[in-house]
Amino acid sequence: MQQSLDGKVALVTGAARGIGRAIALRLAHEGAKIAAHGTKGAADTVQAIEKAGGKAISLDADLATIAGVGHLAAAFRSLSGRSAPDILVNNAGIQTDPRDTPGRIVEADFDRLIAVNVKAPLFLVQQFLADFPQGGRIVNLSSRLSLVGFPEQLVYSATKAAINSLTKSLAKELGPRGITVNAVGPGLIETDMTRARFFAKDESRAIAASFTALKRTGQPDDIADIVAFLAGEDSRWITGSYFDASGGATL
Ligand SMILES: NC(=O)c1ccc[n+]([C@@H]2O[C@H](COP(=O)([O-])OP(=O)(O)OC[C@H]3O[C@@H](n4cnc5c(N)ncnc54)[C@H](OP(=O)(O)O)[C@@H]3O)[C@@H](O)[C@H]2O)c1
Repeated sequence: MQQSLDGKVALVTGAARGIGRAIALRLAHEGAKIAAHGTKGAADTVQAIEKAGGKAISLDADLATIAGVGHLAAAFRSLSGRSAPDILVNNAGIQTDPRDTPGRIVEADFDRLIAVNVKAPLFLVQQFLADFPQGGRIVNLSSRLSLVGFPEQLVYSATKAAINSLTKSLAKELGPRGITVNAVGPGLIETDMTRARFFAKDESRAIAASFTALKRTGQPDDIADIVAFLAGEDSRWITGSYFDASGGATL
């Protein structure tokens, strides 16, 4: 059977676990060859993709520095044999709570949040800017928190608002080449980022579910399916958009 992403190469950052891993598996299921990135590579994700009959390579890089971004782009080129991916998913991200509040934020945390969540996605796009193919796709992981005031995750929210802005500007820059750039904003999704705080107890899990219109907790696959749509041909007329992926938590 012809799959929708046959022949495409997708680079997914932060693909060793959580949402990024689910995205990598989903895009591979659609036929894309996956470059799966993690700070120490993404060997488990590659293994799972290969076990399911797909193709993947593992890339490691610390995206807290611009040098790390350059290392990732160079490793992608050398291991994939391609000058740029067809699909780039800027997924890697961090939180620093409970220190991310107006009273507790310190310069080092501020700088790290900006470096990983904002600088790395932008400079990774820059690395491939001249080489993205016609019809390419960039999907940036934003957050529901980018749209609301949330002093409990003050700078994290601001980094995701910056992603929304970068998404629009990059969509205008790359649109003439048929390349779309969109942002997906998850609500609360059950991953390592959120598990201890929101999903450790049945009671807190029920509270997390109660925030949503759909009355259940969000899972990585809920986000991966949206990214798969944005990575494919069917989304060709959508660019510069923010997709709420919160199960109706913002209604
Ligand atoms: N979970 C949620 O509720 C939620 C909600 C809204 C938005 N998001 C966004 O969705 C994305 C994925 O989140 P998640 O929940 O899947 O998070 P996660 O489970 O904590 O995974 C984060 C990923 O980012 C990578 N990463 C962290 N620091 C890095 C660094 N310095 N350099 C390179 N990679 C780094 C990690 O790599 P290693 O595996 O190698 O450590 C990991 O693969 C993030 O952008 C996050 O902000 C998540």
